[in-house]
Amino acid sequence: MNLPQEVRYRAYTDWSTDEIAKINDNVKQSPWHASYHIEPKTGLLNDPNGFSFFNGKYTLFYQNWPFGAAHGLKEWVHTESDDLVHFHETGAELRPDTKHDSHGAYSGSAYEIDGKLFLFYTGNVRDENWVRDPLQIGAWMDKDYNITKCEDVLIHQPSDVTEHFRDPQIFNYKGQFYAIVGAQSLDKSGFVKLYKAVDNNVENWEEVGNLDFGGTGSEYMIECPNLVFVDEKPVLLYCPQGLDKSELNYDNIYPNTYKVCQAFDTANAKLVGASEIQNLDYGFEAYATQGFNAPDGRTLIVSWIGLPDVDYPTDKYDYQGAMSLVKELSIKDGKLYQYPVEAITSLRAESENFAAKAETNNTYELELQFPANQKSEILLFADGKGNGLSLTVDTKDGKIILDRSKAGVQYATEFGTTRECSIDPKETSANIFVDNSIIEIFINKGEKVFTSRVFPEEGQNGIQIKSGEPTGTYFELKY
Ligand code: FRU
Repeated sequence: MNLPQEVRYRAYTDWSTDEIAKINDNVKQSPWHASYHIEPKTGLLNDPNGFSFFNGKYTLFYQNWPFGAAHGLKEWVHTESDDLVHFHETGAELRPDTKHDSHGAYSGSAYEIDGKLFLFYTGNVRDENWVRDPLQIGAWMDKDYNITKCEDVLIHQPSDVTEHFRDPQIFNYKGQFYAIVGAQSLDKSGFVKLYKAVDNNVENWEEVGNLDFGGTGSEYMIECPNLVFVDEKPVLLYCPQGLDKSELNYDNIYPNTYKVCQAFDTANAKLVGASEIQNLDYGFEAYATQGFNAPDGRTLIVSWIGLPDVDYPTDKYDYQGAMSLVKELSIKDGKLYQYPVEAITSLRAESENFAAKAETNNTYELELQFPANQKSEILLFADGKGNGLSLTVDTKDGKIILDRSKAGVQYATEFGTTRECSIDPKETSANIFVDNSIIEIFINKGEKVFTSRVFPEEGQNGIQIKSGEPTGTYFELKY
């Protein structure tokens, strides 16, 4: 939603209790609230931030402008979880309240060090002429959720980077702390800078170099770069804005992509043996995916179900955006898989054999098998009048198609109303998680993923089988 700059950058302390109560009331009016996904209390949720393990629990902050469905003065809102399925807000927030983050506590990461959580993030600072100075800054959160900001800027804008320099990710590789930061070069192409903590002091960073991951620079900016390790293989997750479509086909306004690499040469800032660039998700919206290597050995990621510069039907209710399920990464036969963490099965309640259903509560999981050599089409969010979200699984020609053109309230149609990807032409499975206005589809246990919003109208809650003979189970989900 377009709101004037003076509204979006109004100080948090200037919003009256009445104004806040009104926003709260408006958010409650929405018919589209998710039941088992994280949504913002109010306002706009965007990137996952500070995804980490701290004090025996999982920590996940979300980027938020709390006063409406727009990108304004951003803060981080803290949530935590024991099982990566049930999250709750603790009340802790990283507010934009110092001279080093005066125009927003932008995205970043976190790492537990000596009993405290180190937050590494971008302080968005603008001067009176609205000229930006992007600062990489830090803060410490203790076990009682008190946040103390570091006094000094940790990394200033380097001379070979424009004002687009943000989203530091801290990670530990073989006992040494590193960070990567998304950047735009002076000739306006995207790249990633690699830093190293001097003497492993995370308040003291030196540049190693520009990360060589075999990028072409056809994008104009790389946001939210994340380096995680799966079976010791480095996987770079990143958002190359404006990426040339001859390099990778994508339909969303901005893509979220990855490369699987063979080794990390820290001395030369190089990801050795980087694969071709690939789409992380084939749905209508998944962005700013953040990952980390958890202490129990799992590689975990979570995505923003939303996109920058897109208006959503929930905007009129003063909120926008949701977090995806937490997904675990694995590599099988050289391919990257993403699948919800095992604990997601704890949401399963009553189950029945999969069949058409006139009505559901739009909160369920389907575990389906699509036989080989067949084109199947099912309609979800169906109203019996031909409307619904169409999923075609074609195991003959090897194709998955998701068609949103008849599903609920239409939006962002300028980016097309279908999404598709290819699969091997053989028997195929799909686990489909529906949560009122969210759908996450995992083909072959995460070989391909489609993450999307759907905003059903009243009565759009059925399941129809239009063709083919998919079999499987319908699970009601209870949070
Ligand atoms: C990505 C992003 C980040 C930035 C944040 C600001 O969605 O643009 O690059 O830090 O959002 O909210």
